[in-house]
Amino acid sequence: MPPSEIVLITGASSGIGLELARAFARDRSDLVLVARRADKLEALARELKEKHGIDVRVVPKDLARPESPAELFEALRNRGVAVDVLVNNAGFGMHGRFAELDAAGQLEMVQLNVVALTALTRLFLPGMIARRKGGVLNVASTAAFQPGPMLSAYYATKAFVLSLTEGISEELRGTGVRATCLCPGPTTTEFIARADMAESKLFQAGAMSAERAARKGHRAFRRGKVVAIPGIVNSLGAFATRLSPRWLARKVTMILNG
Ligand SMILES: NC(=O)c1ccc[n+]([C@@H]2O[C@H](COP(=O)([O-])OP(=O)(O)OC[C@H]3O[C@@H](n4cnc5c(N)ncnc54)[C@H](OP(=O)(O)O)[C@@H]3O)[C@@H](O)[C@H]2O)c1
Repeated sequence: MPPSEIVLITGASSGIGLELARAFARDRSDLVLVARRADKLEALARELKEKHGIDVRVVPKDLARPESPAELFEALRNRGVAVDVLVNNAGFGMHGRFAELDAAGQLEMVQLNVVALTALTRLFLPGMIARRKGGVLNVASTAAFQPGPMLSAYYATKAFVLSLTEGISEELRGTGVRATCLCPGPTTTEFIARADMAESKLFQAGAMSAERAARKGHRAFRRGKVVAIPGIVNSLGAFATRLSPRWLARKVTMILNG
């Protein structure tokens, strides 16, 4: 069991984020849960407090608003809450042709998946380094490993998250702070409906439970692993992508996402 710590999890109201909250709660870590749906966060907070006797704070927040990361950081600092572990999990995808998908929606996605994640990491990391403790667990996707026609902007956001996290992980060597990137493949969550992916070959071929994906990410973070891909099929897929020419990776992904 890790020493007492405070873990902030974004997107904890459903799916992988909710299961990551359960995983860190099992370690008896205190939690700060962030997402827009306050009722879902409150219900999870009640469950985890009762079950594990931990302290759980709920901060309802729309992280796609550009001011939100700084507001969240300031609010916690003013209350004397020092975040040891930051889990950047909140995110969504949009399925369709880039030139036809809603432009504002795509920019909101980049704001949440990329800008908010980057801002929160930059805000919380210096405190962790000063205390020589904790780290960042960022949720990317197997989408990070190749271009993704029919979800082109989404795949690009996840490539950013993987690259940023791997870069930071090297910079952090010797600081006592770690950075891990969880790259799940298709996972059964609200993501499927929001991204309009239920009919895609990718999800028709089968999806992992959110609990399994979260357990893998939590374990990898605890062990100081930099890149974690849950499931052998997803790992092989990411590996095969690295070996195949980019034109082939693009074409196969177009078929899977189509
Ligand atoms: N499911 C998959 O197949 C899959 C595969 C690879 C990677 N991922 C990644 O895994 C992460 C979690 O997704 P999931 O699959 O668990 O989907 P999910 O069930 O839809 O969960 C997404 C979470 O993000 C939160 N969120 C969305 N927009 C937000 C906003 N503007 N501000 C604050 N929070 C927001 C949602 O909460 P509210 O709606 O309450 O705000 C929810 O808690 C995402 O980064 C996703 O890209 C998913």
